[in-house]
Amino acid sequence: MKILGIETSCDETGVAVYDTNSGLLAHCLYSQVALHADYGGVVPELASRDHVRKLLPLVEEVLTQAKVDKSQIDGIAYTAGPGLIGALLVGSCVGRAIALALDVPAIAVHHMEGHLLAPLLEKDPPSFPFVALLVSGGHTQLVRVDAIGEYTLMGESLDDAAGEAFDKAAKMLDLDYPGGPQIAKLAELGDSKRFTFPRPMTDRPGLDFSFSGLKTYTLNTIQAHARDDGLPDEQTCADIAAAFQEAVVETLAIKCRRAIQATGFKTLVMAGGVAANKRLREKLTQELARFNARVFYARNEFCTDNGAMIAYAGAQRLQAGQTDDASVKVKPRWPLDELPTVGKAQQ
Ligand code: KG4
Ligand code: ZN
Repeated sequence: MKILGIETSCDETGVAVYDTNSGLLAHCLYSQVALHADYGGVVPELASRDHVRKLLPLVEEVLTQAKVDKSQIDGIAYTAGPGLIGALLVGSCVGRAIALALDVPAIAVHHMEGHLLAPLLEKDPPSFPFVALLVSGGHTQLVRVDAIGEYTLMGESLDDAAGEAFDKAAKMLDLDYPGGPQIAKLAELGDSKRFTFPRPMTDRPGLDFSFSGLKTYTLNTIQAHARDDGLPDEQTCADIAAAFQEAVVETLAIKCRRAIQATGFKTLVMAGGVAANKRLREKLTQELARFNARVFYARNEFCTDNGAMIAYAGAQRLQAGQTDDASVKVKPRWPLDELPTVGKAQQ
């Protein structure tokens, strides 16, 4: 089956063609980062309008790159949630319309399931069961994954998501949006030991997270060292970025270790935009090696939002005979454990 995947849940227009026999044929991405840069974050209405402009030309481009005629497409997979309602509606309406025009089935894909399965697109994929650490701009979750669609939430953030914390800390340091990669870059110049930031909720049992206190701690540290322009000197900014990153990374690592110990699983999958963080990858790999557990993640471009993960997740469900009816339903909030089961991946 050749599946066209469409992702428009936030500020990235992503499309891909995935073939259940030969794998990923092509993927294209248009990022709206420049469009939202002046606002320091995503402006939902601007995001929707830009998806409207970019989506169809991008679909044409990905079909050309994949050397696939639209008549050869066997199914459509589109992100239906969670995400920004207007942005989701663009991809869902276009996805459903293409399915209707081509007379092929279509399926609404859960954005976080897309992230969670993205490492299965790689050459050396993880096998089931595993623990997934989902760390994006909107979610921080630890999920027990027994098979595709068999998800049990083990823990999640009670307030800000890890990516959101990176973005907010970056804003305080006057760095551009999205802040995660900017903090990571600045942290390389800093001394992570000069300041010791808290590791929230690690002093009690459990797998939930809280990152909002870390945000306040960051602001207080910045203010305590601020010069007349409101910011500390360059080295201090770098030291704060490094201390902040280290606190988030260590907090995530402690909880991942607990989740691996609780399940007895030997595989951890990290996914979502923050999974592109180099220090987090290093730390988790190191930490879990002590428990003979291995860490898997996708290449950077498949950690952040993309169409390939949606095409892949949708392909698994369409191949299992699941489809959605022709009505356009988006779900800005959509618990992962409400998804129907599929079983083990068919690569
Ligand atoms: O998965 P994603 O592309 O979109 C959502 O579904 O939210 O994740 C975006 C988030 C942003 O908060 C961004 O700052 C963060 O991922 N991010 C990073 C890195 N690259 C992206 N955070 C830390 N380090 C990175 N290298
Ligand atoms: Zn995402």
